[in-house]
Amino acid sequence: LVQPVILCGGSGSRLWPLSREHYPKQLLKLVGQHTLLQDTALRLTGSMRGTAATFMAPVLVGNDEYRFLLAEQLRAVGVKPAALVLEPMGRNTAPALTLGALAASVDGADPVMVVMPADHVIQDEDAFQAAVAEAVPLANEGKLVTFGIQATAPETGYGYIRRGAAIVGSTGFGVAEFVEKPSSEIAQAYLDSGEFFWNGGIFVIKASVWLEKMRQLQPAVHSASLAAFEARKVDADFVRPDKTAFATSPSDSIDYAIMERLASTANNTGEVVVIPLAANWSDVGAWNAVWDISPKNSDGNALVGDALAIDTSNSLVMAHSRLVACVGLTDVVVVETPDAVLVASRAHIQKVKEVVNQLKAGG
Ligand code: GDD
Ligand code: MG
Repeated sequence: LVQPVILCGGSGSRLWPLSREHYPKQLLKLVGQHTLLQDTALRLTGSMRGTAATFMAPVLVGNDEYRFLLAEQLRAVGVKPAALVLEPMGRNTAPALTLGALAASVDGADPVMVVMPADHVIQDEDAFQAAVAEAVPLANEGKLVTFGIQATAPETGYGYIRRGAAIVGSTGFGVAEFVEKPSSEIAQAYLDSGEFFWNGGIFVIKASVWLEKMRQLQPAVHSASLAAFEARKVDADFVRPDKTAFATSPSDSIDYAIMERLASTANNTGEVVVIPLAANWSDVGAWNAVWDISPKNSDGNALVGDALAIDTSNSLVMAHSRLVACVGLTDVVVVETPDAVLVASRAHIQKVKEVVNQLKAGG
């Protein structure tokens, strides 16, 4: 039995105007029938392909503000969660996973957890399941397993994992170094070296191992999360950690709080390992990534909803509430919503975040 723990409390705004503070990326339907959260939950149900292992009902950790959307999206695809842990406020992923590990450990259980962000796309589900199947026995031995994505650009929004020695009898490697979100110069040097993977943001870890590492390395986060969980209120699937106790937790991410520290050159004990993941993974960080993963017609256009493209190529056109027609355009992104429309060139798509900044600055 493997325990899925889905982290779904982030509030992104890079996919403006679809993602908003009150409607984050994981709750959006970007490609196909389901939202990213629904695809994530469905990916982690039933039996793990090619193995005897079965996924347990997932533990979700997300913000209290989205509780009805989270519950409704799961219900709509027939996934019954073991618990929906609702954070009273965001404290980033290290406290979130600590709450998730505590929820997975009630009644003395100590499962291997598959910790998944809710806002990624994984197109090759078989390759993903095979990588998780490789990870589970290593996690059972007490390792902290990460997944390495082939790095193809000097992205600064990812963690970088330097491959160590190959692990006998596995496709995995030791982790010689883990560096979260390096500067672009350092990211470029890592890329050039050919020794680094991107961190996929997916972890396979035993609940007791995570809790023990947090207790040792991040005692303030650990004690605040533990106190909040112990004083929780339970209402059917909803589990509400105590607000006053959780508020005292420092904010920190899994990557900075634990992974970087355990794999730093000074005190690397070989506990962190990496399994290469070649599963068409994308964290859909910006509109170009949505275009990349969307089905396209022979002109390279991804047309969603009531969208029409004439003499237009290599473009993404999403119409949500009315007809959108493009004529004579190349390499553009058009995203129409009832109250805002984005028209951008794909070459400048990273600057969408400046729209969000300006809107925020304007109140
Ligand atoms: N419950 C909860 N609470 N979930 C959270 C919180 C929180 O406070 N903050 C973020 N999350 C969720 C997000 O919704 C997302 O699903 C996941 O946790 C990861 O958080 P991000 O904020 O998206 O992390 P990141 O993209 O900057 O970095 C991570 O992912 C990269 C790959 O996409 C790191 O693990 C990097 O090393 C990695 O390369
Ligand atoms: Mg992310």
